[in-house]
Amino acid sequence: MDEKEKNTGIKLEYEIIKDDFSRAGEASSNIKRVLRQLGIDSSVIRKTAIATYEAEINVVIHSEGGKMVVNIEPDKIEITAKDNGPGIKDIDQAMQKGFSTASQKVRELGFGAGMGLPNMKRSCDEFYIESEFGKGTTVKMIFKL
Ligand SMILES: Nc1ncnc2c1ncn2[C@@H]1O[C@H](COP(=O)(O)OP(=O)(O)OP(=O)(O)O)[C@@H](O)[C@H]1O
Ligand SMILES: [Mg+2]
Repeated sequence: MDEKEKNTGIKLEYEIIKDDFSRAGEASSNIKRVLRQLGIDSSVIRKTAIATYEAEINVVIHSEGGKMVVNIEPDKIEITAKDNGPGIKDIDQAMQKGFSTASQKVRELGFGAGMGLPNMKRSCDEFYIESEFGKGTTVKMIFKL
């Protein structure tokens, strides 16, 4: 079996809780640890670590909560962050560097630079965002191996 085949079909799933700052970042650090154990290329790990952290924090601070799912396949890692609302009114605006609706309280914790979504998009090979205002947001990112 070649190196890449061994990682076929591994699926990781994490629940992300709204406003839970004490656990924010746990899912992304867990994902990083698993990818390391699987021997995934360190440059890919670095990129997925940035993207999963930003996605996780966005669900914590901007949404009603949701989940992150990681699918590791022989030739790619697919990461989906899906939340239960409230959704994004204007995706083009949300994608702009520096745009943020983060509250003062959240900014004091060090978030709210409006760089999360642009950094996620930059880190991955394929980026998809879907949002229905009032329903929820799904971000899907693909990293080629
Ligand atoms: N999952 C989400 N649900 C609802 N709104 C979101 C979600 N993710 C992002 N947004 C909206 O898009 C804006 C931009 O997101 P982005 O991650 O780029 O910046 P930020 O989270 O405000 O700040 P930073 O990520 O730099 O700490 C957010 O301020 C928020 O209005
Ligand atoms: Mg963000």
